[in-house]
Amino acid sequence: MNEIDFSGKTVLVIGGSSGIGNGIARQFRDHGAEVYVCGTRASAEDYTAEDVSDLSGLHYFQLDVSHDDNVQAFQPPFDKLDVLVASQGTVMYKQAEFQMPNFRKVLDVNLMSVMNCCMKFHPMLKETKGSVVILGSGASFFAVFGNPAYSASKGALRTLTMTLGEAWARDGIRVNGIAPGLIVTKITKVTWDHPRRYEDSLNEIPLRRWGTPEEMGGIALFLASPLASYMTGQMLLVDGGMGLS
Ligand SMILES: NC(=O)c1ccc[n+]([C@@H]2O[C@H](COP(=O)([O-])OP(=O)(O)OC[C@H]3O[C@@H](n4cnc5c(N)ncnc54)[C@H](OP(=O)(O)O)[C@@H]3O)[C@@H](O)[C@H]2O)c1
Repeated sequence: MNEIDFSGKTVLVIGGSSGIGNGIARQFRDHGAEVYVCGTRASAEDYTAEDVSDLSGLHYFQLDVSHDDNVQAFQPPFDKLDVLVASQGTVMYKQAEFQMPNFRKVLDVNLMSVMNCCMKFHPMLKETKGSVVILGSGASFFAVFGNPAYSASKGALRTLTMTLGEAWARDGIRVNGIAPGLIVTKITKVTWDHPRRYEDSLNEIPLRRWGTPEEMGGIALFLASPLASYMTGQMLLVDGGMGLS
């Protein structure tokens, strides 16, 4: 038996249009799943390699999850769901998150929308005894200098993962999370595209390199597969060792 064969399974990756979510979506696609992804832009053609995005073989649709009503009104183009991945996320730099409207905006995308999507798809996941994978961050465990909203939202996702894992175990749904370290995507371009910041960051990582969206996809496959069948409510720190000291 191949435990990471997802043939016949339906996977939805919120935020699968680019970066980590896209890497996760491609891994599920390559392991046989029918994969649906969404993002904020009108069509798949609006994404390029610059966005760390490749939508080939994935079903793309536009859905802005920052408004509850959008998520509630959304009619999914599938009638069963085995895996829900919540990889939506945003961050604001230059102290912007210290302003309340911005703090709320980041919380709406990074936290409120995750709960909303989980609730929206709970009935479908209960039907299949499916699995949820939530994208936290190193910020789920540690403070992030200058980003109060990002770190508060990611900290909350860790206990949300624990709480939903406990609550939905009786439905046969496992809920786990991935807390990535530094991964090359469009939201981290400010660091990897800046030679001095990039060099400094490497000194913080025992494995001496950044991670890739595909590597996060490998962890998501594991978490959603029978290999992790006795695991729920956990958020795995996958950071090249950055959080070890
Ligand atoms: N990169 C890292 O080093 C790192 C580290 C730790 C955690 N993370 C987390 O990993 C997740 C993915 O981030 P990423 O680095 O892959 O960045 P990314 O490429 O910008 O991906 C973020 C995804 O979220 C989507 N999104 C943002 N706002 C949305 C909204 N209102 N409605 C629907 N979708 C929305 C984006 O859609 P568009 O493509 O249309 O913008 C995109 O698909 C996030 O939760 C992030 O916090 C990233």
